[in-house]
Amino acid sequence: MAIFDALPPSVSIYEVSPRDGLQNESAQVATHAKVRLIEALIEAGLKRIEVTSFVSAKWVPQMADADQVCRMVEKPEGVCFSALVPNARGLDRALAGGIDEAAVFLSASETHNRKNVNKSVAATLLAFDDVIAPARRAGMQVRGYVSTVWGCPYEGAVDPEAALRIAHELLSRGCYQVSLGDTIGVGTPLQTRRILEVFLREIPAEKIALHLHDTRGTALANVLVGLEMGITTYDSSVGGLGGCPYAPGAAGNLATEDLAYTLAGMGVDTGLDLEKIWRAGQVAEAIVGRELPGKVHKAGIRSLAH
Ligand code: HMG
Ligand code: MG
Repeated sequence: MAIFDALPPSVSIYEVSPRDGLQNESAQVATHAKVRLIEALIEAGLKRIEVTSFVSAKWVPQMADADQVCRMVEKPEGVCFSALVPNARGLDRALAGGIDEAAVFLSASETHNRKNVNKSVAATLLAFDDVIAPARRAGMQVRGYVSTVWGCPYEGAVDPEAALRIAHELLSRGCYQVSLGDTIGVGTPLQTRRILEVFLREIPAEKIALHLHDTRGTALANVLVGLEMGITTYDSSVGGLGGCPYAPGAAGNLATEDLAYTLAGMGVDTGLDLEKIWRAGQVAEAIVGRELPGKVHKAGIRSLAH
């Protein structure tokens, strides 16, 4: 397979456990426990961490303490903290919290977008004029998520061309990267290749990230396709923690340990300490109080010696 002849020397992991990982937890996680998780992620070598979400607490109660999280966590030199920002109010909060990067988000399918942010796709893009340009003027970078690219929990199949048009809108408004979401983890490798072929015809690989949920165990297979096609940023979450509250069936994200272990075994540098990232997964499991689904997480620390 061509992929093994053309592996990138390194890959950037964008860690989403404190946000995508925790947002779906029904029991409120204590703010100090969230901070402990972020500290464990930093200790493991993660340089890009989505620490929280400045959305409405009425919509996602778990993220109501976003401002306190920012006040309590210390950001070392060289680490980038990002957070979801849906509107101008969210941007004000993110700026007050010292966040480096705002992440705007919308879906490739109308129904999921309405359920998630209460607006049409077109209205959501328009509303980003209150976020992206002002954030850039304030010195922040802005990343854009396009959700449900592989399939929508309400509408089923999604047209990759529709997702591509949204990605262009985000990039032209000032996002430096678009993260394509398999929000409900339905993607399979050939589908991933077809989707990426559509995107890569018009957008350079470095402006694309993959945000894969591992609901059906296909996330790593889809990463291999991404690597083959030149994608070098992957979103993941320790322990495989995660899900979207407005996407029924959106089980865990791709586990950071599984991604880092697989890449390390192929000689691709992630900058992560495997043992410490495993330990961060233990912190995540302890704070949510139930077993997490990540494979390396479950296999235990001894397997990392290989
Ligand atoms: P709305 O109800 O249409 O708008 O919500 P609103 O302006 O009427 O706001 C409702 C209330 O929230 C008001 O309070 C606002 O002040 C307040 P009230 O007047 O009723 O007391 N509010 C805020 N409070 C704090 N911070 C704010 C803020 N904005 C409004 N920034 C809105 C529209 C977009 C706010 C809402 O729908 C929302 O917050 N949605 C977020 C949903 C969410 O976070 N979903 C999960 C993240 S997306 C995801 O997981 C997918 C991803 O991982 C990628 C993938 O997997 O594909 C990214
Ligand atoms: Mg997600």
